Amino acid sequence: MLQWKDLYEECSNCTSCRLSESRTNMVFGDGNYKSDLLFVGEAPGRDEDASGVPFVGKAGKLLEKALNSLDLHREKDYYLANICKCRPENNRNPKEDEAAACLQYLRNQVALINPKIIICLGAVPTKYILGKEFKITRDRGKWVKRKGIYIMPTFHPAAILRDTNKKPLFWEDLKEIKRVKEML
Ligand code: URA
Repeated sequence: MLQWKDLYEECSNCTSCRLSESRTNMVFGDGNYKSDLLFVGEAPGRDEDASGVPFVGKAGKLLEKALNSLDLHREKDYYLANICKCRPENNRNPKEDEAAACLQYLRNQVALINPKIIICLGAVPTKYILGKEFKITRDRGKWVKRKGIYIMPTFHPAAILRDTNKKPLFWEDLKEIKRVKEML
C-alpha cells in the first residue's frame, strides 16, 4: 500500500490504460481524506479533466449543493473519488479493462481513508464496488455491509439532472446517509 504522496505521483504518471493518452489532468480525489464518508463516482467529465478536481461540473454542483443543505461540506465531512481517474472521451462509461486498471488506486485510497461509509454514485461504481448483480433502480438506498463498511448505491447526480422525478428518492438517500454517519 502506498502513502498519499506516492500514490498521487503514481496516478499522475499512470499509463496503464488508453485513457491516459487523452487526459488533460488525472483526477485523483478531493475533500477530507480523514472523514468517514467516501463518495465514489464513475470517471471525470470535461470540467474535471480541465481542472483536475472531481465533481466540479453541473452534476457535481448539484451533489455539493444538496449535501451542503444537509450541513455536509466537502472540505470537512466527506471525500470524493472515482472508479477511473482519467476522462473517457465524450463522457462514455469506462470500459471494463480501464476500470480494472484503475481500481487498484481506489482500493489504495480506501485503505488510507478507512471510511465507515462508501456511497456508490450510479450504476458504474455500484457494479465495480458491489457487483454486477446490483441494480441501481432496485437497490438504491439499501445498505450493504462489507468488511465492516456500510455501502449504499444511490443515483448519480447527473441522473437527477436528466430526470427530476428521481430527486425525492435521491434526497431521501442523502438524508439516510447523514443519519447513519451521525450514528456511527
Ligand atoms: N461524474 C463523475 O462520476 N465523476 C466526476 O468526478 C464528475 C462527474
